[in-house]
Amino acid sequence: MSWMNPNKLISLRLPLIVCLITCGLLYCFSFLIERSFEKLSIQQNVSELNSVIDSIERELVYYSPDENRDEFIQNLLLILTGHHRLFVYIIDEQGKIVYRTRGPNLAFAKTQIDFDNIVENHGTDIWNQDKSSYRVAASYVAIENGKHYTTIVAIGRDLQIEFIRRLRDGLGLLIGIACILVLIGSFISIYFTQKPINRLIKKIEKINLKSLNYRIPTSLVPIKYVSLVKAFNDMLNRMEDVFHRQRNFTADIAHEMRTPITNLTTQTQIVLNNARTTDEYREILYSNLEEYEKMSQMISDMLFLAQADNRQLVPNLIDIDLHNMITLMCEYFEPLTDEKNITFNLDGNCSHIQGDKMMLGRAISNILSNAIRYTPENQVISITLKQVNEKRVQIVISNPGKKIDSKHLPHLFDRFYRVEESRHRNGNDSAGTGIGLAIVKSIIETHKGTISAESDEQSTRFIINLPTAI
Ligand SMILES: Nc1ncnc2c1ncn2[C@@H]1O[C@H](COP(=O)(O)OP(=O)(O)O)[C@@H](O)[C@H]1O
Ligand SMILES: [Mg+2]
Repeated sequence: MSWMNPNKLISLRLPLIVCLITCGLLYCFSFLIERSFEKLSIQQNVSELNSVIDSIERELVYYSPDENRDEFIQNLLLILTGHHRLFVYIIDEQGKIVYRTRGPNLAFAKTQIDFDNIVENHGTDIWNQDKSSYRVAASYVAIENGKHYTTIVAIGRDLQIEFIRRLRDGLGLLIGIACILVLIGSFISIYFTQKPINRLIKKIEKINLKSLNYRIPTSLVPIKYVSLVKAFNDMLNRMEDVFHRQRNFTADIAHEMRTPITNLTTQTQIVLNNARTTDEYREILYSNLEEYEKMSQMISDMLFLAQADNRQLVPNLIDIDLHNMITLMCEYFEPLTDEKNITFNLDGNCSHIQGDKMMLGRAISNILSNAIRYTPENQVISITLKQVNEKRVQIVISNPGKKIDSKHLPHLFDRFYRVEESRHRNGNDSAGTGIGLAIVKSIIETHKGTISAESDEQSTRFIINLPTAI
């Protein structure tokens, strides 16, 4: 069922909550209004009843109805003038009616209400008779001639009850209308807020590997969502980049593997075509061995990079004297440098650092072997060590040679990236495959360091920054 869609239920939830809160608030508000009207009318009735009772008491004491009945009645009428729906019932101690207004028979009230309690507490009570409701008060008066009078005064409440009922109905209707309006308003505002998001979702849903180059136009959404769309497009940029590199990476691996395998296959076919001497077989097997070693080296390089990608490279940290390590490495490369009459110039110094000796050795020897390869004969490769600050050291390996065009520099550390298409396979580790600098970069990053390359007409420089401790 479409309405069971959780997104729709969530968008329903907000208007309902807003509606409930509005309803609740309006209900409390109308309850308070109703209560204060009720209270006010009770106060009015009570004070009216008390003032009439007081006046009647005064007249009873002053005139004594037995003796001056006419004056008493006359004053009583004056007291009652202006009071609407007010009823009086006065009897003497023998139950003889002294005065009674037309209207409800308050003699019944006398039997139904506990007047002793009312008189004692100067209170009032409610009396319902013939579908009408009254608030009643009473007093007992004893006058000098020994007579006792009971006065009961009642005031009709029907109008007030009717007024409050209408007020309640009116407020109820108002709450109902307000809630419906709030509900409609919230739906409309949610609809308009949700609309661009829904448009966005539809566009995003259509993006797949084939349309990874699609970017959502910012004009599609209101200004408040532009930064969201920009962030999403940036994420697509990064994903597309990673995806392309991954795709090229797979193609490159296949390409790199195909060449040695083709070589091996061709050689084997040629060998099998004719009968060979043992020496010839040995020679061919040696040549094959070289190809196997290259493939094996490449596979172990790939595994190394895969481990780095999966954050499985755990450096075995020991104290390293970089100056000493690089000096030994330069000595190791002597056979190669002697061939081209290249010299190393190691300059500066820095504190010992914590690192994995094997990994850092591999990284620096990769850079050195590149430097040797690209340095013209009879030139100097300079290596500078520097203490950047207490926590960082810097190694700069600089070699003269052809300038690397600046467009290549950001990609030097990418896997299989080579500036020139021709391959150099001279037996160095991963030489010519374009994996060397990618491995260097993962080693340096595993050590929480950074590496960058610079190149101009004079030299090409690789700058490594390493923390003294990880
Ligand atoms: N010292 C250098 N001088 C000039 N170019 C260099 C230097 N080091 C690396 N490069 C360029 O960077 C590319 C990538 O180097 P690397 O990853 O070690 O691959 P490879 O050595 O297998 O070619 C090289 O092909 C080369 O074009
Ligand atoms: Mg290399």
